[in-house]
Amino acid sequence: MEDKKANIIAVTTVISLVIFIIVARVCLKLSRAFFLICGAGIAVILAVLAYLIIRSQYNRSRKFLESRLVSEGRELRIEYSFLRKVAGLPTKFRYRELEEATDNFQSFLGQGASATVFKGILNDGTAVAVKRINGEERGEKEFRSEVAAIANVQHVNLVHLLGYCSNPGEPRFLVYEFFPNGSLDCWIFTRKERLNRRGGCLSWNLRYRVAIDIAKALSYLHHDCRSRILHLDVKPENILLDENYRGIVADFGLSKLMGKDQSRVLTTLRGTKGYLAPEWLLEQGVSEKSDIYSYGMVLLEMTGGCRNVCLIEDNKDRSERKWQYFPKIVNQKMREGKLMEVVDRRLVEDGGIDEKEVRRLVCVALWCIQEKARLRPSMARVVEMLEGRVAVEEPPETRMIIVDLLSIDDQDQRPDHHGHNRRHAAAMAAHLVDSNLPTTSTHSFAMSIVSPR
Ligand SMILES: Nc1ncnc2c1ncn2[C@@H]1O[C@H](COP(=O)(O)OP(=O)(O)O)[C@@H](O)[C@H]1O
Ligand SMILES: [Mg+2]
Repeated sequence: MEDKKANIIAVTTVISLVIFIIVARVCLKLSRAFFLICGAGIAVILAVLAYLIIRSQYNRSRKFLESRLVSEGRELRIEYSFLRKVAGLPTKFRYRELEEATDNFQSFLGQGASATVFKGILNDGTAVAVKRINGEERGEKEFRSEVAAIANVQHVNLVHLLGYCSNPGEPRFLVYEFFPNGSLDCWIFTRKERLNRRGGCLSWNLRYRVAIDIAKALSYLHHDCRSRILHLDVKPENILLDENYRGIVADFGLSKLMGKDQSRVLTTLRGTKGYLAPEWLLEQGVSEKSDIYSYGMVLLEMTGGCRNVCLIEDNKDRSERKWQYFPKIVNQKMREGKLMEVVDRRLVEDGGIDEKEVRRLVCVALWCIQEKARLRPSMARVVEMLEGRVAVEEPPETRMIIVDLLSIDDQDQRPDHHGHNRRHAAAMAAHLVDSNLPTTSTHSFAMSIVSPR
C-alpha cells in the first residue's frame, strides 16, 4: 500500500512538472525565466525517477530476503518436527483433530477410575488410543503426573505417548499408540469380568513372558531413568498386550517421580484395593518396593486366573462378610507341595505347563508380597530370577496383614469400632514396618478412599 501511494505521488509530480514546463514554454517563450524553470523542473523529475529506481531495487532485495527467511523457517520447522518425531516427543493436538480421529468419541476401548479411552485414527493413518481424563482438579493432577512420567522415557515394554491436548476449561486428552489386544485382565480372568471387550485365556508360556516384560519395564523405571519413577498402580487393567501378546505397562496417572537419594515419598492413598502395599495402606510413605508388592499380586492373579481378594459371602452387615484371600491359599499350597492346585483350571486342562516355572513364578510372587518392604527383591533381581539366571530361594512366611486390614475396613464403618480398629491398625503397623523406617504414632487408616477396582 505504501509503495503504491509513493508511486502515484511520484508519477503525479513528474506529470505536473512536465505540464508546468510546457505551460511555461508557451507563456514565457525562450526567455531566461523559462530556462530557469525548465532546469529546476528537469532536476526535480530526475530526482523523482532516481528515487523510484532506488526504491524498487530496495524492495526487490527485501522481498528476496524475506522469501529466503520464510523458506529457511519452514525448513527449520520441518526439521524440528522431524527431530521431535525421531526423539519420540509428544505432539500437541487440537481438540478438533481428536474429535475427527475418534469419529466424535464413538469407539470405546476401556474405562478406569479417572479416564475413558477411545480408539481413533490420525490423518496419517496411525491407530491411536485417546484417553479423556475426567475431573477438573484431579484430572489436571493426573494429566501432569502421566505426562511428567511418560513423556520422555522410552522402553519397549512401556506405553508410548504420541501426543496430548489440553485447553483451559476443556477435558484433557492423552494420545497413545493403540494396542488391539487391550489389557491383561481380559486375558487372565473369566469372560464375566471382561463384558464385551476382546479377550480370552492367555497360555502359560505367554503369561510367563508377560511377567518378564512387566518386570523389565518396572526395573527400567526404578533403576535406569534420570529420576526414579514409581508407577503406583500396577494391576492387570494397566498392563496392555501388543499384537504379539508382549506386556506393555500403561496408565501413569498415579505415578510419582522420586529423587535417587530419597528412600520413600509420602503420597495420598489412591489406588486399587488388593494391590496396595501395606505400608501405603498404613500411610507410611511409598517407595519402589510398593510397586514390587503390586507386581507380586499381579503374578499371583496371572497364575490363578482369579482376583486375589474376593468376597465369597456377601452380607448387608459388613462385619459378617467373608473374604477369600488367594495369596494365603497359594502360600499354604506351596508349602504342602500342591502348587498345581492353585493354577488357573483352564491352563491345567490344556496341559503343557512347566511345573518348575510355576514354582519359580509363585516363589518370586511371594517374595514380592513380603510385608516387610526391605525383604522384597528389586525389580532387576526379579528379572534375573524369572529368567532363571539366579536361584530362587523359598520365601519366608509373611503375615499377610491385608486380610486384617480388609476386615478393619469393613468394621471401621461402624462408629463403635472406630477408635479400636485404628489402634489395631497401628499395632499391626508397628509389627509390619522395617525397624529402621520412621513411623508415626497415629496411623490413620484410609481404605475407604481407595478405588475398589
Ligand atoms: N493404548 C491402548 N490401547 C488399547 N486399549 C487401551 C489403551 N490404553 C488404555 N486402554 C484401555 O482402557 C482402559 C483404561 O485406561 P487407563 O489408561 O488405565 O485409564 P485410567 O487411568 O482411568 O485407569 C485400560 O484398562 C484398557 O482396557
Ligand atoms: Mg487404569
